[in-house]
Amino acid sequence: MSTAPSTAATNAIGMVGLGVMGRNLAYNLADHGHPILGTDAWPEAITRFEREKGSAAVQSAPSIKDLVAHLARPRRIIVLVKAGEVTEQTLAQLLAVLEPGDLVVDGGNEHFETTERRAQMFAAKQVHFFGMGVSGGESGARRGPALMPGGDSVAYGLLKDALESIAATHSDGPCVTYCGPGGAGHYVKMVHNGIEYADMQLLAETYALLKHVGGLSNVELADTFARWNEGPLASYLVEITAAIFRKQDDLASGQLVDAILDKAAQKGTGKWTLQDAATLGCPIPTIVASVDARLLAARKIQRQTLHAHATHVAAPGTASRIGALALAPSERGAFVEDVERALYAAKILAYAQGFDLLHHASLARNWNLPFAELARIWQAGCIIRAKVLTQIRTAFLADPSLEHLLLSPALASAVGGGSASLRGVVSAGAQRAIAVPGLASALGYYDTIRTERLPANLTQAQRDFFGAHGYERVDREGTFHTQWL
Ligand code: 6PG
Repeated sequence: MSTAPSTAATNAIGMVGLGVMGRNLAYNLADHGHPILGTDAWPEAITRFEREKGSAAVQSAPSIKDLVAHLARPRRIIVLVKAGEVTEQTLAQLLAVLEPGDLVVDGGNEHFETTERRAQMFAAKQVHFFGMGVSGGESGARRGPALMPGGDSVAYGLLKDALESIAATHSDGPCVTYCGPGGAGHYVKMVHNGIEYADMQLLAETYALLKHVGGLSNVELADTFARWNEGPLASYLVEITAAIFRKQDDLASGQLVDAILDKAAQKGTGKWTLQDAATLGCPIPTIVASVDARLLAARKIQRQTLHAHATHVAAPGTASRIGALALAPSERGAFVEDVERALYAAKILAYAQGFDLLHHASLARNWNLPFAELARIWQAGCIIRAKVLTQIRTAFLADPSLEHLLLSPALASAVGGGSASLRGVVSAGAQRAIAVPGLASALGYYDTIRTERLPANLTQAQRDFFGAHGYERVDREGTFHTQWL
């Protein structure tokens, strides 16, 4: 049974949506001295919320209308329901009963343009609306997520203390910061997810290389990733990768990872990242390669068909014409070290692309994104938390207007130090028909962005040849057109 309070819950924060994320975030808030009044469209969710709450500071209301009636003004309400249509309907219900000065925060993974449209809709009724990225999954929500709020900076003051109290903590401070106006919070979370896709794809490729070229067993893979987690690659994703390789299958023999179908799914934040990057003209090839890799991985049947037809060349995952897939045991140690260095360089290049996109978006939309702060709040709580973010933060603190991470001497030298390994590892994959599109894209990005004269002069000549699009010259000002034949 829900227990709507009989008197106004003066200082409670409203939580609409008591699924995994909403419920855990609510309990986290209550643990930190913020009374909660929660509701959900599903009575079962309210019952569970009540059953598991373990705190008198947590109460529930049977409906949005009841919840709003019991909250003191200005009301502070966090919405954590399924992004898209469900959020749209929930917000419409809230807007119908809220009053000027109230604040609503959407904590789902929503597209930033949708958030901006909703903020305007709410502003018409003088109700503040925030989009807030929440990263860290279920345990993050309960024990300390990274939070990325964006919207009206004055309204942020209504929730700042509460959010700081529940966010993950790092020695550099709580993992929450005001990201910027409009949809900046959801945008920052979107790019976080784009980087997350790249991080995950790079790890998947190193797995393929270590397994097929290095000949490592699952136990050896677990030990290798665990060891990497003690060094510069230390990160949440490397840590869980080690744990994954150790997990025994409880339905069959061996490790569970081998029984999982290689068909990757996605919910869309990676796609949004590359769509906006294309709109802004910002190259993020490693994130693009990662989204494409998931799309290719999803085409299991087609891959099986094409594998069966690939009789004229060595099929991936089989011994190639060049030789056996796996290296001799004596060469394996050096190869594993090369893969570690390559992964570190590629990871920095992927983060560099993500921050470059944030930089372009900030300029295009006048968001004034706080880059050092974003690196700071990603150091704990979120899925991409990693040791390298401390170096990235230091780079932005040293030069807040840093245009590109490769302009930081420390990061440039870290990538430079791993670049020979990256080249070797990409070529080891290519020679054996082991697909490494993420690593290869990072290398291509690195080589392209540092090339002073690219072959794009030919591209320009071709455009002018067939379309009279004009070209610029290296030796004089102006736009030129040539009658090529
Ligand atoms: C996080 C995650 C979280 C979610 C992704 C998964 O930061 O906690 O990013 O938001 O796991 O949205 O996205 P895909 O389903 O697209 O992989």
